[in-house]
Parts: sequence; C-alpha cells; structure tokens
Amino acid sequence: MEKKELKEAILKLKKEKNAVILGHYYQRDEIQEVSDYIGDSLALAQEARRTTCDIIIFCGVHFMAETAKILNPERKVLIPDITANCSLAKSCPADAFAKFKAQHPDHMVISYINCSAEIKALSDLICTSGNAEKLVNSLPKDQKIIFAPDKNLGGYINRQTGRDMVLWDGTCTVHDALTAESILKLKLEHPQAKVVTHPECNAAVLQVSDFIGSTKAMLNYISKSDSKEFVVATESGILFEMRQNNPDKIFYSVSTEGCACLECADMKLNTLEKLYNCIKDELPEVNLSAEMIEKAKAPIVRMLDMSQQLGLIK
Ligand code: 13P
Ligand code: SF4
Repeated sequence: MEKKELKEAILKLKKEKNAVILGHYYQRDEIQEVSDYIGDSLALAQEARRTTCDIIIFCGVHFMAETAKILNPERKVLIPDITANCSLAKSCPADAFAKFKAQHPDHMVISYINCSAEIKALSDLICTSGNAEKLVNSLPKDQKIIFAPDKNLGGYINRQTGRDMVLWDGTCTVHDALTAESILKLKLEHPQAKVVTHPECNAAVLQVSDFIGSTKAMLNYISKSDSKEFVVATESGILFEMRQNNPDKIFYSVSTEGCACLECADMKLNTLEKLYNCIKDELPEVNLSAEMIEKAKAPIVRMLDMSQQLGLIK
C-alpha cells in the first residue's frame, strides 16, 4: 500500500477499534502525523494514564509501552515493533542493579523512566528529563539517593541541585556519542545559532549549550526565543515538530561520526506499515505479570502525583 492509503487505513481501524495512538517526538514524521498525541516521555505517560480507549498503540520504544501497560493493566497495549528497545534501558540489568542497590541500603532509588519494568519495580520514584530536577529538589536535602540508569542526566541533576546522588553507570549510546567539538564546529558555521541540548548528553556537550532540557522544554524554549537559528543536540525526529511550530526558524542537527544526523535506530524501527499491521492484527502486545505491574506502578504514580502537585503537568 502507498503511504496515503496506509494512513487512511490506520485512521479507520483506529476509530473502529476505539484505539489511541501515542507517539514519541523521535518517531518517523509519518507516524507523528497519524498519532493522537505526540509528546515527550512525561506527557505520554500522563496521556496513557488518562486514556479511556480500549487499545493503546505506543509508537516509541519498549520501556514506554511497558509504562503504558503498567498504568493500564486492563487495556491492550501494542507496539508496532516489539524489538524497539532503548540502549539506556539495556545499560541497567535488573540483577546487577539489585546488587548495587543492596550496597546502599539507606538510599532511596530514583530511576529515569528510560528503564525496564524490573528496574522500576526496584525504584522508589520514577522521573523523566522533564521533571527530574524539580522532583529531586522537592526531597529533603539530607535524603540519600541512588540515581539510575543515566549517569549523564544524574550528573547534570547533581550539578543543578548541589546533591551528591550515587549514579548508576549507564548512558544512551545515541546522545552520549555527541561531542562538544561537533557542536562548536556548527557554532562556527552559524555563530548566531543557539544550542539546545538534551540532558542525556555528556557534561562537555552540556557545557557548550545555551539551553538544556527535555524534548518538550526545548520546544517551548525555541518557540519563545527571539533567535532565528538553532543547533539541535538531540534525536533528529524532534525537528519535525520544531519546524511545524516554527516555520520561520532554521534548525541544524548535530551529527556524530557515523551519521549525518542524530537518529535513534530503535525509535525508527516503527514504520507506517508495521503500525498498520499492529492495529489490524492487534499484535505485538506488551504484557507483564500482575506482580510486576503492582511493584512497578507505585513509583510511576508517585512521579505523576508529585509532578501534578508541583504544577509540571495538569
Ligand atoms: P524525553 O523525556 O525528553 O521524552 O526523552 C526520552 C528519550 O528517550 C530521550 O532520548
Ligand atoms: Fe533510548 Fe537514547 Fe533512543 Fe532515547 S534516544 S530511546 S534514551 S536509545
């Protein structure tokens, strides 16, 4: 089928089956076009909690679909490509993390949402890049904390809050591959451009940035900024929304050595064709045991409730 036909068929099946399509900003443009909600991890988790649809189709990576299932055990949760994983989630295996946690018995565990359900079940509180700093700041100053799995985000939060959280040694291979040199090179070519960066990048990259924030925070910054040019140091899927919201502004994607733009190969595993088959066949489905759902749900709900109290989400 042609793209246009596929899109029409997806929208028709979605209506017939009372399904909702949640899409992350890093998805292919054509997937973002048929999604009911496009957002960052925090907004999508909130949308997953709010939905009344019978079927949730999560166009993102596996931990995101798992989070939707944890919040909706009674609903069917589907993902177009079940092998779409996240390097950061994979950098924190549950058995090794359980041992690490046991070495710090007086610490609470805050985990970035980019982790498996098993890691969530071992955590006290989940955070996203959109709320991490404020959540950590809202905790008592003497609270000892383990932060997992992203050492770059954890290091950034430590510097921002003056805390000394113990960090798990994990990274996103996509963001961590960026170098300060590649950004400075683009800055030389476009001296007027502001550099906007995701906190999953390493400290040297963050240091040469004008703005650091989650995908949603970057979008807000760009829309409000008087600048006309931006160097974007995150996954290039976000450029679709940036360009749509700001047709008068120019964006330069930072490249890595192996890639002309910055792409998360796992995010791009979901295609329009796979999405069509997924909604038609209601497969592949994301399932978790009732016990795992119960354990992993508490820290996610705590995050959503705290984010609401802090006015970060409605
Ligand atoms: P956001 O929390 O900004 O959506 O980031 C998710 C992600 O996977 C970043 O790589
Ligand atoms: Fe995971 Fe990195 Fe891809 Fe985000 S960009 S989903 S953190 S591998």
